This record gives sequence, structure tokens and C-alpha cells, in this order.
Amino acid sequence: MLMISHTLCMCMCLLTHFSYPLMFKSIPTFTPIKKNHLHVSTSLSSSSLDNVFAQDDVRLSVSQDESCSSLLAPGSAKLDTAWEDLGFEYRTTRSHLKMTFSTATNAWSKPVLVKEPYVSVHIGATALHYGQSCFEGLKAFQHQDGSVNLFRPKDNAQRLKSSCERVCMPFPSETQFVDAVQTVVRDNIDYVPPYGTNGALYVRPLLFGSGEKIGLSPADEYTFLIMVIPVGDYYKGGIKPVSAVVITDFDRAAPKGVGGVKVAGNYASDLLPNQMGKKKGFPIGLYLDAQTNSFIEEFSTSNFVGIVNAKDGGLQGGKYVTPKSPSVLPSITNKSLMTIAEDEGMKVEQRPISVSELAVFDEVVACGTAVVVTSVGKVVKGGDIYDFCDEVPGTTTMRLYDRVRAIQVGDEKDKFGWNVAVC
Ligand code: PLP
Ligand code: COI
Repeated sequence: MLMISHTLCMCMCLLTHFSYPLMFKSIPTFTPIKKNHLHVSTSLSSSSLDNVFAQDDVRLSVSQDESCSSLLAPGSAKLDTAWEDLGFEYRTTRSHLKMTFSTATNAWSKPVLVKEPYVSVHIGATALHYGQSCFEGLKAFQHQDGSVNLFRPKDNAQRLKSSCERVCMPFPSETQFVDAVQTVVRDNIDYVPPYGTNGALYVRPLLFGSGEKIGLSPADEYTFLIMVIPVGDYYKGGIKPVSAVVITDFDRAAPKGVGGVKVAGNYASDLLPNQMGKKKGFPIGLYLDAQTNSFIEEFSTSNFVGIVNAKDGGLQGGKYVTPKSPSVLPSITNKSLMTIAEDEGMKVEQRPISVSELAVFDEVVACGTAVVVTSVGKVVKGGDIYDFCDEVPGTTTMRLYDRVRAIQVGDEKDKFGWNVAVC
């Protein structure tokens, strides 16, 4: 049944009355995104109407208060591949979300949904010249009951805040952040991979200095964007272990540098070592501390975990060891795995880890939002090869993967309160 609310009728009248040429160009942006009805937020104000008309590709936000059954079905978008075969590549979805901040008003604009996957920024934007930019990564999953949930979005809001503070940028509040993520996921709900396909909707918030400055100082204008992309495994081969190379010719982060925050420059500086490693057959590179080159820091894309299994090979009584260093990015996945490991009766140690300890670990794991829990089969450092497994991940790695995944997709009770509903 097609239901058009009273408010919507009024809006349509306004649209027709005041801006026919824009309306004409805007028609595709009002494509109903809901199964049964076209809905416009009832809290529509004149300023959000301004947003509607600001660009022909900008749409109203979807309202937050409906169940998934009133939206398009997750997994109903048409992709160029089967949901089961998704890797970690860019794909265009319906929209991204945009907010801007001006130091003149000291406030964030209302969020808007933008159809075109392009951003127009000033040639003097500080992000382009001085790298005043940071990002986040989190995922939305469909559960078996049909609901769609985000995994620990408040933790991403907090980490975004710490990144912004480090490079002198304003940040959205936790509520603004989570609301914005929920809004853009709802607008792209049909791109959420269906339950049982092993995929997720990857959410990539991005915040950067978009105002111009040519002397070195923070911008006066900032842009916050959130794009969403349906994804599967980061590394080809699914759960098959990957080989890592220890990066000895380059450092990732100085002891008092920016390694502990998710700023864009950290990833730019890793591109060359990353490409060099891949050319030699290593999909993943492991960084050491920049000061002494003797302690393990983290992988380019993820945190490092070393496992010492209990004598009987089980988890109970085993050890979960992960580096403690101010230049390692505090991974939300790692934090979750530490909780699960403790729940399994493992001893969790967060402390400096000497490279030589690689010889002591039974299993090595790379963990992060994109890579989830990836088994590292071997670590190569110059002529030294540390072997952990071949084709099949170790039992502890698999158990940790299964448990975090089960919580993310709703197969296990969310006793730690990590999931936040989108609809
Ligand atoms: N370390 C680095 C350098 C990363 O880029 C990421 C990914 O976000 C992680 C660790 C893992 O963090 P999280 O589990 O919060 O995704
Ligand atoms: C993530 O895991 O979300 C990241 O941001 C890592 C990125 C290099 C893909």
C-alpha cells in the first residue's frame, strides 16, 4: 500500500510551487527507499528543506524510528557479484552522509544524504596539503531475526574524537556520530549483506579539514562524511592463514607520533612498504617499534595478538598476548577479543612483546574491523621464519573468530552489550 503522509504532501506541494527546475532534476533522489511507502521525516524544518535544495543530489535523512520490516530488505540491492563472493573492494551504494562544521558558527550542520559519490573541496583544503584528516571503520550486520545492528559504534565515536583532537579538528558528539551512522545505514539498508552470507556493510566515517589555509594552521571548515560499502573477506581465501613479513626498512609510527590515532597519514606512509611486501608474496606487514626495532607494534591494517595455548591445547589457562604501546592504534576488535578471551578462561596480557617471543607463540592473529580475526600462518623476518600453521587456523584463533562473529550476527547472546540496533 502506498502511504504518503500529510507532511510529505505539503513538502511535495512546496517543491512543486517553489522550485520546479530543481525538482525536475531532483526527482530520482526521491525514489522510495522503503518497501511500502515514501517517508519524509516529520521533523522537517525550513533549514532541512534548504538542505534538500542545496544540491540536486542531496536527499532528506530517513527517520530513525521504524522497524526493518518497513524498509527495503537487506540483501535486496542488485550487485555485480553474489553476496557470498564479496571481497573488500569499493562499490557504489545509494548515498553517503555529509555534515559540515564551520568555526564561524562553531556547530555541525544538519546531516544530509548525498547520492553522488563525489566531494568538491577547496584547492587550499588543509586535508589535501597538510593531511588534516582522519577516518573510522565499523560494520553493520543483519541478524537472523531480520534486524540490522552496528558493532560497538560508540567506541568508534570515541576513537574519532581522539584522532580529531590530535590533529586539531572538531568532532561530532557520540550521539551525532551514532545517529549519523544509523541514518546512512538505513538509507542503504538493501546493501546490507543478508544473514548467512558472511558479509557486512562496512561503514567508513571520514572527517577532514575542507577549508583553505596555506600557512600551517587548522582549517576554519570541516567536512564529515560517512560512506557505506557491502564487504566480505579482506584477504582473499577467507579463513585461510596469511603470511606476514616484518617491515624492517620503514617505521609506522614514532613513539610520540600519531600511531595511536586513525589519521590518514599513517596509511599513506604504509603504502610503499605494503606494496613491497605484497610483491614479495606477503599480504600483510608487521611493524616494530621505531625506537629500538625490537618490539612488535602492529600490522598495517590490524592489531597483533600472540596466543600460547594451554597444555591440553584448549583456551582455558592459555595466554592472549597483545602489545602495549602508545603508537599502536587501540583496536575495538582487539578490545572485544580480550573480553572474549577472558570469558574463555584465558589470561590476557597487554605488554611490550619482544620480536624474539614469536618463537614462543602457538598461534598469531591479526585483528581489526576489516580483517576480523585473521590467522597468520607464518611471520618472516629477514632469514628467520616463524611457522604457526599452514592451511587451517589454530583452534584458539577459530574459537575467538567464531565467538566474535556469533555476537556480531546475533547467533550468540550479546551479553557484553556491544550491538546497537539500526532497525
Ligand atoms: N590497527 C590499524 C593500523 C588499523 O587500521 C585498524 C583498523 O581499523 C586496526 C588496528 C583495528 O582496529 P579496529 O578493530 O577498531 O578496526
Ligand atoms: C578497518 O579495519 O576498518 C580499517 O580501517 C583498516 C583499513 C586499512 C581497511
